[in-house]
Amino acid sequence: MKIGILGAGNVGGTLGKRWAKAGHDVKFGVRDTADAKLKELLAAAPKSSAGGIADAAKFGEVVVLSVPWDATGETLRQAGAGLDGKILIDCTEPVSMGPDLLEKGLLVGHTTSAGEQTAARVPKARVVKALSTVGWPIMADPKVEGQAAVMPYCGDDAGAKSAVAGLLRDLGFEPLDAGPLTNARLLEPFGMLWIYLAFKGLGTDFAFTLRKR
Ligand SMILES: NC(=O)c1ccc[n+]([C@@H]2O[C@H](COP(=O)([O-])OP(=O)(O)OC[C@H]3O[C@@H](n4cnc5c(N)ncnc54)[C@H](OP(=O)(O)O)[C@@H]3O)[C@@H](O)[C@H]2O)c1
Repeated sequence: MKIGILGAGNVGGTLGKRWAKAGHDVKFGVRDTADAKLKELLAAAPKSSAGGIADAAKFGEVVVLSVPWDATGETLRQAGAGLDGKILIDCTEPVSMGPDLLEKGLLVGHTTSAGEQTAARVPKARVVKALSTVGWPIMADPKVEGQAAVMPYCGDDAGAKSAVAGLLRDLGFEPLDAGPLTNARLLEPFGMLWIYLAFKGLGTDFAFTLRKR
């Protein structure tokens, strides 16, 4: 599958490497294609390429939004019509990235969510919220004590959700259908719980798994 990744930092870079290694065609959308870290990333992600935000959006059958929350408006504007009809995975956690992240907490919630606000900005895209509930070290290796970490996802387009479930499985997660896009209101606080626990002593090498009776 052709995957465009908007933002090649911890999350975008990790996902791109993992999907490229699983055989997908990845294009990173970045601000600076001459960046030294980007060259290392391209070398580590087989057959991947990089371009501007609009190039990566146009390239992907599936596009991943992995920039800081305060950069999403500008990034989606640059992606423009390249997102029309596309599956857009929103990985953002609506927080202020910095030392006061925990004190400020979620910047959006209860009656709306980053997922819904993203979808409202790009109404022709098929938005699925996923990959915001664990840190990037778990995305790099979702197996915990031999069991796949659970990855809830939500959205309103059944076809888009099914494609995203497959991509989550390719990463090594156990995908969990968490309902309509309005349930991003539940997934984003769940991501904040992971962040809180990580900051308060659990570190970044833990994940939630699903067990049923
Ligand atoms: N870190 C985690 O473990 C984690 C887990 C789940 C979800 N998330 C969410 O995933 C998103 C990305 O997090 P991250 O940890 O990958 O952040 P990061 O390492 O800081 O990377 C952010 C990426 O976005 C790019 N970027 C920043 N501002 C931009 C703008 N105005 N236009 C275009 N690109 C821009 C950066 O480019 P430059 O290199 O040019 O600055 C960089 O490639 C955030 O919304 C975060 O809440 C993070």
